[in-house]
Amino acid sequence: MENEKRIVLTGFMGVGKSSVARHLAYLLRCEQVDLDDYIVEQEKQEIACILKTVGEAQFRRIETENLRKLLQANNVPILSLGGGTWTIAENRRIIKKHDFTSVWLESNFEHCWQNIKFSKKERPLAKNKLQARCLFDEREKFYCLADWHFIIKPGFTSFDTAKLIAEEVFCKI
Ligand code: S3P
Repeated sequence: MENEKRIVLTGFMGVGKSSVARHLAYLLRCEQVDLDDYIVEQEKQEIACILKTVGEAQFRRIETENLRKLLQANNVPILSLGGGTWTIAENRRIIKKHDFTSVWLESNFEHCWQNIKFSKKERPLAKNKLQARCLFDEREKFYCLADWHFIIKPGFTSFDTAKLIAEEVFCKI
């Protein structure tokens, strides 16, 4: 990719960060990494299993360690984060230190919840609608800190969103 810009995609669970990242990588002909996938590979354990075994606080430490390791070792231009990654100040600091532009994929709660409910991915921090709703409300103030905000409108596909990011953030297509 000619463009030097590197981005992280953040946003609530179920908003479509990983799919948008894949489409964006296709459009820009570059690599992308999903932080959850990287953690699974490094820790040799599923995210849900780590969360259930060691609890959220320890999972966050593992997540931060892996984020640091990934960004030190890899020049990846597109990184999709887990829904909670960006809410941790240290993670935002690491991401900024590596000159990433942050992009918040913003959507309404119902849209995220429908995707969470029907997804194959197990999400122990969103076991029911009330728990997910509380997290959704708590996290908005952190997602707001991202450099770019893209609202996922009803009927918008992940590909549509990726195209918009390619046009507006990367000035491509
Ligand atoms: C989490 C989101 C998940 C995963 C873990 C914790 C969160 O990723 O990292 O279950 O705290 O929001 P997705 O956002 O891809 O579901």
